[in-house]
Amino acid sequence: MSTTLFSPISVGELVLPHRIVMAPLTRSRAGQPGNVPTAMNVEYYRQRASAALIISEATQISQQGQGYAWTPGIYSKAQIEGWRAVADAVHDAGGRMFLQLWHVGRVSHPSFQPNGALPVAPSALPVPGKTFIEDANGNGVWTDVPTPQALGLDGIASIVADYRVAARNAIAAGMDGVEIHAGNGYLLDQFINSNSNHRTDSYGGNIENRARLLLEVVDAITSEVGAERVGVRLTPMGRFMGMGDDTPEQTFGYIAERLNAWKLAYLHLVEPAMVGNVKDDATDPRWDAMILSMRKAYHGILILAGGYDGSSAAHALAQGRADIIAFGRPFIGNPDLPERIMAGATLNTPDPTTFFGGTSLGYTDYPKLA
Ligand SMILES: Cc1cc2nc3c(=O)[nH]c(=O)nc-3n(C[C@H](O)[C@H](O)[C@H](O)COP(=O)(O)O)c2cc1C
Repeated sequence: MSTTLFSPISVGELVLPHRIVMAPLTRSRAGQPGNVPTAMNVEYYRQRASAALIISEATQISQQGQGYAWTPGIYSKAQIEGWRAVADAVHDAGGRMFLQLWHVGRVSHPSFQPNGALPVAPSALPVPGKTFIEDANGNGVWTDVPTPQALGLDGIASIVADYRVAARNAIAAGMDGVEIHAGNGYLLDQFINSNSNHRTDSYGGNIENRARLLLEVVDAITSEVGAERVGVRLTPMGRFMGMGDDTPEQTFGYIAERLNAWKLAYLHLVEPAMVGNVKDDATDPRWDAMILSMRKAYHGILILAGGYDGSSAAHALAQGRADIIAFGRPFIGNPDLPERIMAGATLNTPDPTTFFGGTSLGYTDYPKLA
């Protein structure tokens, strides 16, 4: 019998009752000041607890790791307490949840940085993108980012330490695990891709060196919380935030193979049909071959995300392309997405104008099936 969306599966020590996972979705609605999860955030995640697994919105591991207004953190006491209320609500509703750990690297702005410093990156190369900051009136505005400062070895070591503490905090908050965000052009991806990493030390140059920071972070976090509670998200061939690699098949193939060593909860890949949250009209033609070779190279559970609906997801599982499918935008508009897919029901359409920032409008007010 072929695998279906409704076949249970073990992930680490969890048993997922089906295979429809909620993808990480930044919604920029953390409480201010302090970027602390609020009762409204608790309600949003509680509504979505029938997901096989919820992967939280990206959550900064430190103040330095923040790049957008109103995104939550996991480094202060108040943030840990805020996330504990979320984890408790999801568990009480029968769900499971991982927290996505985030450091944006160069996709930031001095207004977020300790002492107004320049954002940090593998190399002093500016991102061809914008970030979202709060203006003097408390409104969000898109703004250019400055050329970042290249990290020294001490700076790199202290980021690894921040990841370790953040993972410990997430587990202390009651999360079932953490997902390391190593995609979408943020810090770890900036180290991996050859076009954003021009270092000449042991963190730059060949593939082994460019993958080093990610693997050190994986090592630190797994030794802190246990490999069965750690997933990794990569976006090979993704072009969001100006990413590009000279030899992506080799680079990401090497990483997939190296990740086997830890027996992680899962590896999570995003189809490059998406650039961040918009459709990429120039998907790399090498992608299909690459996903198949990464699938072979990585021996654990593979989650795929990016543009799926119920029928394409079922097809991907039946083909053995992945073990689990994560849904992003469909979960914004449909808190009961698994029930709707199971019933073949119509889906609510999510409203992109309320994706980032704002109130409960477009956040906790999407209806469930009657
Ligand atoms: C509003 C929005 C916010 C997102 N935030 C994150 C995030 O915090 N972390 C991440 O890894 N991906 C993020 N993504 C990407 C999604 O996880 C997902 O890969 C993408 O939306 C494609 O899946 P979909 O077609 O099912 O929406 C975001 C996407 C959207 C639309």
